[in-house]
Amino acid sequence: FVKKDLLGKKFLITAGPTIEPIDPVRYITNHSSGKMGYSLAKCALDRGAEVTLISGPTSLKAPKGVNLVNVKTTEEMFAAVGQYFDLCDVLIKSAAPSDYKPEHINTEKIKKKDGKDDNIDLHLVRNPDIAQYYGNKKTNQIVIGFAAETNNIIEHAKRKIKKKNFDFIVANDVTKEGAGFRSDTNIVTIIDNKGKLNSLPLMDKKGVANIILDKISDIIKNKS
Ligand code: PMT
Repeated sequence: FVKKDLLGKKFLITAGPTIEPIDPVRYITNHSSGKMGYSLAKCALDRGAEVTLISGPTSLKAPKGVNLVNVKTTEEMFAAVGQYFDLCDVLIKSAAPSDYKPEHINTEKIKKKDGKDDNIDLHLVRNPDIAQYYGNKKTNQIVIGFAAETNNIIEHAKRKIKKKNFDFIVANDVTKEGAGFRSDTNIVTIIDNKGKLNSLPLMDKKGVANIILDKISDIIKNKS
């Protein structure tokens, strides 16, 4: 038995990494597999929500019934969120968008030159911060962020809640075994916008997703 407490609610969920091309054969990216975001999409769908899943490149199959929007770069993810944001009740930013991109994309493959001084300087410029932009634009919507950290987890995550105007943030220490990128499990601390912490033990990403959705369901109930 799965409760249908999110019936008819419109969820916009981002998942996976983004990739930023350097030339036609090379790019920069990060270790996100999309598992956390896809678990959220599947569980929200099972609980009755209408789900649009904006996904960077992953090897995962989208859950049947989601509206899947594939993107590659952070700029594309930013634009896709913009297309659906006004219509959504809840935005969950579980993706790991690249914060930087090469200033110039070479139209042809960069060729190696002979000689030992053949080094390349790659100049990176900032990408838009999608969560910050839409978090600060939200009206009656609920916006949930993640924080992928390697040190001072709680402190960094608390700063991100304020800056990005999240209702709550899900912080994971991506250096911990069984947490963060690629694994089927995660270890998270949920921090609400009043600073209250809820540290969860290691559990599978489906379990983490359902606890996040329980919290969203409570916020929806309290708003109506
Ligand atoms: O995909 P998996 O392999 O399952 O791994 C899961 C995960 C580690 C990717 C996930 O649990 C997670 O932590 N996602 C957030 C990764 C991240 O980008 O964290 P951040 O601390 O750099 O960013 C904070 C928040 O701002 C996040 O909600 C992020 O989606 C958002 N952001 C970041 C940069 C950017 N340019 N735009 C954004 O919207």
